[in-house]
Amino acid sequence: MICLTLMESSIEANLKVIKKNRSFIDMVELRLDMLNDPLLVTPDKVKSKISIPTIITYRKKRDGGKYEGSDDRRRAVLQIYSKIGFDYIDLELDTFYPEIEKISNENGTKIIRSYHDFSGVPDNFESIIRQLSAKSGEIPKAAVYPKSSSELLKIFDVIKEVKDIKDKIILGMGDFGLSSRILYKKLGSMLSYCSNTNYSNSTRSGAPGQVSPREMVNLYRVNKITNSTSIYGIIGNPVMHTRSPEIHNEAYSRAGIDAVYIPFPVDRLDMFFKLANLLKIKGFSVTVPYKVEIIDFLGIKNPELDSINSCNTVVREGGYWKGFNTDINGFLKPLLLHVEISFIKKCAVIGAGGAARAVISALQSIGLEVSIFNRSHENGLKLALETDCSYYPLERQDLLINYNLIVQTTSVGMFPHVDETPLPGFKFSPDQIVYDIIYTPIKTRFLKEAEERGSVTIGGMEMLMTQGIEQFELFTKHPYP
Ligand code: ATR
Repeated sequence: MICLTLMESSIEANLKVIKKNRSFIDMVELRLDMLNDPLLVTPDKVKSKISIPTIITYRKKRDGGKYEGSDDRRRAVLQIYSKIGFDYIDLELDTFYPEIEKISNENGTKIIRSYHDFSGVPDNFESIIRQLSAKSGEIPKAAVYPKSSSELLKIFDVIKEVKDIKDKIILGMGDFGLSSRILYKKLGSMLSYCSNTNYSNSTRSGAPGQVSPREMVNLYRVNKITNSTSIYGIIGNPVMHTRSPEIHNEAYSRAGIDAVYIPFPVDRLDMFFKLANLLKIKGFSVTVPYKVEIIDFLGIKNPELDSINSCNTVVREGGYWKGFNTDINGFLKPLLLHVEISFIKKCAVIGAGGAARAVISALQSIGLEVSIFNRSHENGLKLALETDCSYYPLERQDLLINYNLIVQTTSVGMFPHVDETPLPGFKFSPDQIVYDIIYTPIKTRFLKEAEERGSVTIGGMEMLMTQGIEQFELFTKHPYP
């Protein structure tokens, strides 16, 4: 079940949120602590207006809510609500309200016995879940906040220990916990919470890491995930801004493939591989900063990886992890769609990081010579030596007029710093091909200025899509729909 946490300050506003999301959700959690006054509308009217299964929750500040008043008042309000007979009422492990428990039992309201830990995942996680399920008929809910790959592993590890508890809710909050919300059925949880928010705009989310109902249903199709659903994903740090889930999940859906693609923030590769084995992950994309480090963890390397020394795709094949690089084709295909190789006489690459390295490999693989232009001499010279390129400091941007392909590989101009460019004041020329690998925004200031001067421009979205399509085909052995 998908449960929408209602975070608005009035019942009317909450009803609008329900209406907007009705087709995506199975139930709601009414957070009394978010309301200006939980008794402004009488609870029986609240029930008839909401008219879908509802959890009543009055969360204290200490447990991640907003309520800061006295315990007596909270108890009195919850008592009034419990008399109405909502479907569920959430009471914390240390909340002892026997009269509310009695009324709830008489009314057929199920008690969710909850525990929240915002500091991490406790070592005695299993025993906490056992404590939460001590009273028969109550549903244990453990919400913990993993801050690392090993803490996320602890959450998925606990599944087998508490398999015997039928109805339960186990979830990880925050970025590291997102996969536990998407894979809630694999965790054996009866529901997953979401809120009326964009992941990137978490100010209105019910708890850290909640995604919107639309994303839960349309992007991740969480209710369709079963034990046989193949899991793919992307690892990196940071990784939550990635657009790759859209490229892959949409394609699984169109091609009728039972699979899901999830962002996994990772702080330690060894821990992620443990998780990948536990969850039987079938393949994953690799992004910054792990494209080089991942190579040491592979069982089989595609020969091309030796020369590129960068891996962005890992697929499980016959018990081994096999590495590929689809960045090279991802970069070259859009370029060769716009121009013939023979037209490219001199190439300049701006930047000397990991992305520049991949671009240089790609250009050299089709026989082109490259000059690196970089801000810091040290990094620029180092990469130039390693890749057999020439190097110029970025201050010598006047020289760039002699190049008919300029590739921008730094993060300058990326959202939210969309007014920046690595070449302020540079006058592009109409016979130049100008390629920016940034894809947010779709058109950077760098590209806009080139376009205004009549240059041929190529944006990073074309590269992102192309590498993603090739990756999809390596993952699924199915043509991209
Ligand atoms: P990635 O691996 O994604 O390419 P990176 O390794 O951090 O990222 O590389 C970033 C590149 O962008 C570097 O070449 C960096 O220049 P320095 O080597 O001088 O650090 C370049 N870069 C970052 N910010 C820049 C700026 N404001 N102006 C010019 N170059 C910049």
